[in-house]
Amino acid sequence: MSTPSLLILAGDGIGPEVMTEVRKIIDWFGAKRDLAFDVSEDLVGGAAYDVHGVPLADETMAKAQEVDAVLLGAVGGPKYDDLDFSVKPERGLLRLRKEMDLFSNLRPAQCFDALADFSSLKKDVVAGLDIMIVRELTSGIYFGEPRGISVNANGEREGVNTQRYTESEIARVARSAFELAKRRGNKVCSMEKANVMESGILWREVVQKVHDEEYPDVELSHMYADAGGMQLCRWPKQFDVIVTDNLFGDLLSDVAAMLTGSLGMLPSASLGAPMENGRPKALYEPVHGSAPDIAGQGKANPIACILSFAMALRYSFDQGAEADRLEKAVEKVLADGLRTADLMGPEGGSPVSTSAMGDAIVAALDASL
Ligand code: NAI
Ligand code: MG
Repeated sequence: MSTPSLLILAGDGIGPEVMTEVRKIIDWFGAKRDLAFDVSEDLVGGAAYDVHGVPLADETMAKAQEVDAVLLGAVGGPKYDDLDFSVKPERGLLRLRKEMDLFSNLRPAQCFDALADFSSLKKDVVAGLDIMIVRELTSGIYFGEPRGISVNANGEREGVNTQRYTESEIARVARSAFELAKRRGNKVCSMEKANVMESGILWREVVQKVHDEEYPDVELSHMYADAGGMQLCRWPKQFDVIVTDNLFGDLLSDVAAMLTGSLGMLPSASLGAPMENGRPKALYEPVHGSAPDIAGQGKANPIACILSFAMALRYSFDQGAEADRLEKAVEKVLADGLRTADLMGPEGGSPVSTSAMGDAIVAALDASL
C-alpha cells in the first residue's frame, strides 16, 4: 500500500505551537516504528486570509479532498474579529467540514487516572472512563428548513427551526457508530426523544434496522436523550459508544467532555464517507480554539492535538496498537506529574512548557520500545 498522506493545517494562535509538538510525534513514528507519512502543510483560518484573502484557498480545499487525513490546529483570533462574516477564519473550517461532507463527529471522553481529581465528579465515577460520543454533524435542526424569524398571523414575531432527518442520513451515522464500536467495547447506545419527536421515532427505527441487518453482533440499546444526560453524570462508565443527532450531540458531548477535565486534553475527529481506498474522509482536530490569551507564550497544552493524531492512527490508518502506545505515553507523563499550566489545580505548582510536554511524550514513547 502507498505511504499514507496527511495534510497539516496548523492555523492560528496556539495552533502552530501545539502542531510543532505533533510533528515531533509524527517524526518519532517514522524513525522508530517504520510508520512513514507523506506529510504536507498548508494554511487555514487567519493565516490563510493574511496570504490569500480567504480563510481557505481552493487549492488547499482540493488537497484536503485527496489526502487520507487532515490534521487541524485551531483558527481565529482578535486580529480577525472585524472581518466580514464571509471571510472569517471559522469559515475555513466550516468549508472543510461541508465540502468533505463530514457527517460523523467523534468526541471521546477519556479520563486519565492522574487527572481524575480534576473532575467535578467523584474519582471512582470517572477514573478509567473511556467513552465515545458520535454526533451527527451535517443535518438536523441546525440545517433544517423552514427556518427564520417572521411575523405570524397575530402580528407576533416567531422564531422557527426545523428538525429534519432522512433515513439515509441516520443510517450512515449509525454505521459509523457501529464500526467504531467493533474496534472498542462492541456496545452502542442510541439517544433521541422518540417519546415526543417524530424525527426521534424514525431515528430509533433506522438505527435498529442498520443494527439488525448489518451489525447484529454489536450490543445496541436506546435511551431518551434527557435520561442519557442524567446517566452520563451518574455512571458514565456504563457507555461505550453513544450515537445521537446534531443538537443532542452538541450538548451531550460537551457534558461528557467536562467529566474529564481541561479543554487542553480533548481531541476530536470528523469522518465522512469511505474513499476508494476504504478509508473514511477525515479531519482530526483538538476541541479547543486558538487561545489568544496564551498564544506565543509556550503555555499551551499540546495533548489535545497529540491525542487527535492518536485518533488518526486508530481511525484512518488502522494502527490501533500504535494509537494505544501514544495514549499510554501521554498517560505516563501525566502519572509522572508533568502538567502544563491549564492542568494545575488551585494550589498551583510549576507548570512545564508546550515543548517540554511534547519532548516528555516523545521520551515516554522511546521508553515504550
Ligand atoms: P479557546 O478554546 O481558544 O480558549 C478557551 C480557554 O481555554 C482560554 O482561556 C484558553 O487559554 C484555554 N485553552 C484552550 N486551549 C488550551 C490549550 N491547548 N492549553 C491550555 N489552555 C487552553 O476558546 P475561545 O477563547 O472562546 O476562542 C478563542 C478563538 O478561537 C476565537 O477566535 C474563536 O472563534 C476560536 N475558536 C476556534 C475553534 C477551532 O478552531 N475549532 C474552536 C473554538 C474557538
Ligand atoms: Mg458545543
